[in-house]
Amino acid sequence: MKTIKIESILDVFENFDELPKDIKLLMDKAKEARLKAYAPYSNFQVGAAILMDNGEIITGSNQENASYPSGLCAERTAIFYAGAQFPNSKILRMAIVAGSNHNITALPIPPCGACRQSIAEYEVKQEAPIEIFFMGQTGKVIKSNSLSNLLPLMFDKSVL
Ligand code: THU
Repeated sequence: MKTIKIESILDVFENFDELPKDIKLLMDKAKEARLKAYAPYSNFQVGAAILMDNGEIITGSNQENASYPSGLCAERTAIFYAGAQFPNSKILRMAIVAGSNHNITALPIPPCGACRQSIAEYEVKQEAPIEIFFMGQTGKVIKSNSLSNLLPLMFDKSVL
């Protein structure tokens, strides 16, 4: 038996103002998208904005359902639309803004496991990393240079 250590390297920006200008623009799109979330059950609204290599920006927000599992997260709403609309383009990065309607969320909110798996699929498909930036409504912003940093030991097509 041996023990292995798996490390992820992430960048932490102290606040929104520390971000490069182009990332701020994408984050602003995610903030706008968050306001369009349909989240009457959780009151937790999430917005995602994707920049494609053709310059297109795709946004999405969480869409809930009275039958709870039928709803979908913001990240997957956005990335499935991007995949459906631009199947031959690459996804350069995704910005995510999340927070409760009851209080201001100041912690960076990472994508859930199912969204990580879905984003990973496109990273594998396009053979190029997808940068992920995530934040709450305010406070620190975390950057991952690749989705794979957020999903060690990922399940992908190489095992099928
Ligand atoms: N949600 C997202 O949109 N993205 C995530 O990565 C985590 C959770 C949504 C799903 C649900 O509508 C609400 O947040 C509370 O879980």
